[in-house]
Amino acid sequence: MVPEPVQAPGFEIDAGLALQGAREFGGLVEFKGRCTFCHGIGALAAGWAPDLRDSQIVLSATAFANVVRRRSRVNRGMPGFPDLTDS
Ligand code: HEC
Repeated sequence: MVPEPVQAPGFEIDAGLALQGAREFGGLVEFKGRCTFCHGIGALAAGWAPDLRDSQIVLSATAFANVVRRRSRVNRGMPGFPDLTDS
C-alpha cells in the first residue's frame, strides 16, 4: 500500500529549515543523519519503523517534539533525540 502524504493547508515551507531538517533526517542532502536508518531514505520506510509520509504526528509541533525530542515512544523502539531544537 502506498501511503497518502499528509495534507497541511496553509503550511508554508521555509527552504532553509527544510534543508536543515533534511540534513538531520539524513540521506537526502548527505548520507549521514539520524532517521534514515529506521525510517528510510526520503522517509520511504523500508519495513519496521513507520512510514512518516502519512504520519499525522508531523502536523502538530508539540506531538512531533514529544515523539522526537521528549522520548514519548522510547518503549516502542523510537529512541528520541533531546539535543535537537524546535528548528
Ligand atoms: C532506532 C530506530 C529509529 C530511529 C533512528 C528513529 N526512529 Fe522514529 N520511530 C521508530 C519506531 C520503531 C517508531 C514507532 C513507535 C511506535 O510504535 O509508536 C517511530 C516513530 C516515529 C514517529 C511517530 C510516527 C507515527 O505516526 O506514529 C515519528 C514522527 C518519528 N519516529 C520520527 C523520527 C525522526 C524525526 C527521527 C530522527 C531524528 C527518528 N524518528 C529516528 C524508530 C526509529
